[in-house]
Amino acid sequence: MKRDFLSIADWSSSDLRKLLLLSADMKAHPKKYKDSLRGKAIALIFEKQSLRTHVTFDVGINQLGGHSVYLTQSDINLGKRESVHDVSKNLERWMDAVVVRTYAHQSCVDMGRFMKIPVINALTDHEHPCQAIGDFMTVIEHIGKVKGKKFAFIGDGNNVCNSLMLMSAKMGMNFVAATPDGYEPPSDVMELSREDAATSGAGIEVVRDPAEAAEGADVIYTDVWISMGQENEKDKKLREFQGYQVTKELMGLAKKSAVFMHCLPAHRGEEVTDEVMDSAQSVVWDEAENRLHSQKAIVYTVTRSSGGRSSPAKKSRKMGR
Ligand code: CP
Ligand code: NVA
Repeated sequence: MKRDFLSIADWSSSDLRKLLLLSADMKAHPKKYKDSLRGKAIALIFEKQSLRTHVTFDVGINQLGGHSVYLTQSDINLGKRESVHDVSKNLERWMDAVVVRTYAHQSCVDMGRFMKIPVINALTDHEHPCQAIGDFMTVIEHIGKVKGKKFAFIGDGNNVCNSLMLMSAKMGMNFVAATPDGYEPPSDVMELSREDAATSGAGIEVVRDPAEAAEGADVIYTDVWISMGQENEKDKKLREFQGYQVTKELMGLAKKSAVFMHCLPAHRGEEVTDEVMDSAQSVVWDEAENRLHSQKAIVYTVTRSSGGRSSPAKKSRKMGR
C-alpha cells in the first residue's frame, strides 16, 4: 500500500520522529542517499506561487538521483482544462510520486485517493505539513528536546499554524496561538491536536493576547497575515491584525534563549519588524535551508514505503472542507 503525506494528523508521532531523524541524517551525510531515487520521476504541481518549496523539492530530488517535472497552472490548469481525477489517472502511469500545492485542501486529498502513487501536500489552504517537518528539525537543532517546551504562534490561525499545532501535539510541545477574534485555527484541527496532546502531554491553547502567548516561550513564530488567495481581504486583515506584529518588545517576553521563526515569505513591517527578522535570535534562514533536507526525507520515505498508511488512517480526510 502506498503512503501519502497530506496532513501531519495522518502520521504517527513515531513515524514523524523517524522523518526528523532521517532529515538530520540526510543533512549530515548527503552522499549516503545520492542514488536513492535513481530512475524515479516526481511531478511538482503548483497552483500557487512558491520559492522555497519549489526549489527545495526540485534540488532535493535531483540530489537523490531522481528527476522532477514542474507543472504550473499555465501548463495543466488543474481542474479546469482537465479534472483532478483525469490529471491523476494520467500522472500515475508515468510518475513515482506527486508533490502538489493547491488552493483547496480537498484537491490534494482527492489526488491521494485517485492515484496509486504517493502524494505529498506542498501547501493547501488548510495545511503545510512539509513546512512543519523542516521547522521542527530547526527547532530541535536550536533548542534541543521539544517536550514540555513552549511554541508561541502569533497571528493568523492559517495553514502553517494548523500544521505546527498538529506537529506540536504529536511531539509533546506546548503550543499557544495568539490570534485575533475570528482567526483561530479551525475546530477540526483543534480537535485532532487535542486528541494527540492527551497522549503526548502537550498543551494546546488559543488566546487573544500576543503577550500571553510570548511569555516564557522557547519559540516565537509568525506567518503572513494575507496568505496566497486572500489578496482581496488585505485591507480588512491589515486592520484586524493590528497589535499582532512580532516586535523586539514581544521577543523580550520570551526566554532569553528563544528563537524567532517564520516560514517565509515575510511581509516585513506587517507581521514582523526588520529588527526581529534580522536579529541574532532569528533562525529564518536555517529554516529555509532545512526545507531541503526534510523534503528529501519525506520523498525518500514515501517512495520506499510499502507498509501502508500509518495509523490512525486518514484522520485528516474530512479536514478543510
Ligand atoms: N515557506 C514556503 O513554503 O515558501 P514558498 O511559498 O516560497 O514555497
Ligand atoms: N500562509 C502562507 C504560507 C506561505 C508559505 C500562504 O498560504 O500564503
